[in-house]
Order: sequence, then structure tokens, then C-alpha cells
Amino acid sequence: MSAIGDSLRLLGDETRLRVLHLLETEPLTVAELQDVLDLGQSSISGHLAKLKQAGLIHDLPEGSARRYRIREDAEGRLRGAWSSVRDLSRQEPQFAADSKRLAEQLRTRGTSWVDRVAGSLHREYAPGRTWESLCHGLLLFAHFGRCVDVGAGDGAMIELIAPQAESLVCVDPSEAMVAAGMERVKTLGLDCVSYVMAPGEDLPLADASCDSVLFLQSLQYVADPAKALGEAARALAPGGRLLVVTLLRHDFAEAERYGHRHRGFSIDELKRWTRVLAEHRVVTLPAETRAPRFQTVIVTAVKGAARSKKAR
Ligand SMILES: C[S@@+](CC[C@H](N)C(=O)[O-])C[C@H]1O[C@@H](n2cnc3c(N)ncnc32)[C@H](O)[C@@H]1O
Repeated sequence: MSAIGDSLRLLGDETRLRVLHLLETEPLTVAELQDVLDLGQSSISGHLAKLKQAGLIHDLPEGSARRYRIREDAEGRLRGAWSSVRDLSRQEPQFAADSKRLAEQLRTRGTSWVDRVAGSLHREYAPGRTWESLCHGLLLFAHFGRCVDVGAGDGAMIELIAPQAESLVCVDPSEAMVAAGMERVKTLGLDCVSYVMAPGEDLPLADASCDSVLFLQSLQYVADPAKALGEAARALAPGGRLLVVTLLRHDFAEAERYGHRHRGFSIDELKRWTRVLAEHRVVTLPAETRAPRFQTVIVTAVKGAARSKKAR
């Protein structure tokens, strides 16, 4: 489904909206939907089939039944259309009554939320269980030592990184970003953070002088990424670690709007440009739900003691 007209037709049916509102609250089987909606099985199944075909919901087997849920990765425009309709219609008496009946049914059934989501918790919403809270929590176990953030921009990440670092040098060639970043450092009173205006291809850092070098969604901006990664390897001390969070090779012209010089990178390129380092780990994340569905790749590598001379 791509045309907005198709999305609106899909969402223009009251029964489908009732189904979606309920699934937004709780993944449900056809029988459970029947109990709440008081409609026939074939009618509900027909609406579920249409929603599933459009990619807005999916189902997983559960015993002899199937449990339906809203897709987190539904196509961006369709997901956006549903979000808007949902927010506009949430307070309508019909949907509010359905939601009340569902809450009663779940209570009388006596199964707890925990029991119901066992095996599918990774797909479910749980209050407070956000990527942001997880990131903040896990970061407290991180140690960046003498850290360099290449392409640090205006320091949007310094509040996360600086408390876990002995020192943090933010490197960026943009005068505007450096000025904004320095202002931010001053406001936050982060004594261990400094800013340097320079390109990643020519790091004003001594050999083997840092413990971690980060490229956080900045490598796609760098004119010569191979050179910048070579510079990072040179600046790392033995045992130091490189972290590159960037976009996987893509073909989306939208990237130019953000000033990217490269349409992402292949894993082979990233490994080749960091071959003087060791212990490579590569993680590719699922494509974003928002169009055009950029995909992030994460590469980490370690500077080995034996290779450090070659890297210089
Ligand atoms: C999307 S911003 C990322 C900022 C920051 N890392 C973050 O995650 O908030 C990309 C940054 O890369 C910087 N950049 C552009 N060319 C660069 C180069 N040759 N070397 C290092 N950084 C560069 C830009 O100035 C910009 O601040």
C-alpha cells in the first residue's frame, strides 16, 4: 500500500477502527475481539485480513488460535495515517466503551498482563521500557576513558558520554556547530569536555593518545571516510576502541537533504578501512519505520598492541 487514498479507505471503516483501537491496547485473538465487539467471526476475520494485507497488523500463532497486534514496523505513511486517526478518534464514545469492555474482559479472564505477554514481551509496550531509558541505564556501565567524538556536532550526545569519560574532545569542522557545542558545554558546566574545530581526516591529536574514538552518525558527512578512520586508528592507544554508528549503504536521495556526502557504507568498506584494528564486531539494526527506511550499521574494533606501530 502506498497511496494515501488507500490508507484513508482502510481507516475509513468504523469496525476496522474499533479493531485497531483495541489492538493498540492489547494484542488479541479473533475470539477475544468477538467478545468485546459482539460481532460475528467472519466479519471480524474479514477486517483483520484487510488490515493484515495492508501491513498495519500482523499475527502470531498461539495454541490453536492466532494473536493479532499492530505492527511497529508498518510502512511509514500508513502508520502515520493510523496515528493521526487514532489520536483524533480516541475519545469517541464507541471506542471508549470498547476499551472499557476490553478492560473488564481481561479482568474477569484473570490472566495477568505478564502471563499474556510471555514470549512476546519484545514486541510489547511496557511503561517506561523505552530505548531512551535502556540507553541511559546501560551507559552507566560504560567507560570511555580519554574519548574523542568525531563529528560531534553541537554536542547533543555529550550529556550521555561525558559522565562516563575521563576527558571528552569533540571534533567538528563546522564553525557553527563548534560555537553551539562550546556554548552547550559552558551551560552544562562540563569541565572534562573540550571542542576542536577540525575535520576527521586530520585529527589534531597525538599518536596513541586516546582510549576511545566515536563516529556517531557523522561518517556519512566526512569527505574521505577511509582517511578519517585511519586517523582514528592512529590516535587510539593500544587497547583503545573505535565505535562507528553510521548508515548502511542505501540508495535514498533523501540523504542529500541532510548534507550527507555518502549514501551509507557497506560492511566490507567499513572493515577494510579499519583493517589495522582487530576484534571487529558488526551489528545492523532493523530499517527505520519512517520512510525511506534508513538502516544503521554499528562497527566496533580494538587497537591491538602489536598492530599499533603499523597503524602509525
Ligand atoms: C548529523 S551530525 C552528527 C552530530 C553528532 N555526532 C550527533 O550524533 O548528534 C554530523 C556532523 O558531522 C560533521 N562533519 C562534517 N564533515 C566532517 C568531517 N570531515 N569530519 C568530521 N565531522 C564532519 C558535521 O559538521 C556535523 O556536525
